[in-house]
Amino acid sequence: MNLAIRLTVNGEQREIVLDDPRVTLLDLLRERLDLTGTKKGCDRGQCGACTVLVDGRRINSCLTLAASHEGAEILTIEGVAQGDQLHPVQAAFIAHDGFQCGFCTPGQIMSAIGLLAEGQAGDDPERIREGLSGNLCRCGAYAGIVEAVLDVQKALASTKTERAA
Ligand code: FES
Ligand code: FES
Repeated sequence: MNLAIRLTVNGEQREIVLDDPRVTLLDLLRERLDLTGTKKGCDRGQCGACTVLVDGRRINSCLTLAASHEGAEILTIEGVAQGDQLHPVQAAFIAHDGFQCGFCTPGQIMSAIGLLAEGQAGDDPERIREGLSGNLCRCGAYAGIVEAVLDVQKALASTKTERAA
């Protein structure tokens, strides 16, 4: 059974005909749209490598059917930079060595962007660790990841303070 769905992916409207309505959002992104930056680690919701933002909320794309997101806005790692300008979280990961092999990194970055947008973690490293606990890193780059997110959080907070002044 074919099913047509419309999604906005990284700002671009896409109409996609699914030949299998049970395709996950992860497989749609990787196999139909060639957006292979989103990684398939476990394919069962345990590693966070497949994290993307759907309408601004971070989710494990391996756990959700593409068909259930008709009309949604999807943001993947390919869509976060502005041309040659890296997203602040990407730049902070580089500055703080927040990765080694890089396999988990797209998911970590998308999750960090979501966490910062949620505004729940503040500048508390423990809460950042907790907020990113669904994203596993087998290389153990956690220290650099937390430092990177802390750095962006501090920059965001000082921008807000300057605006309020
Ligand atoms: Fe989705 Fe591991 S691939 S959580
Ligand atoms: Fe290798 Fe995280 S950098 S799995």
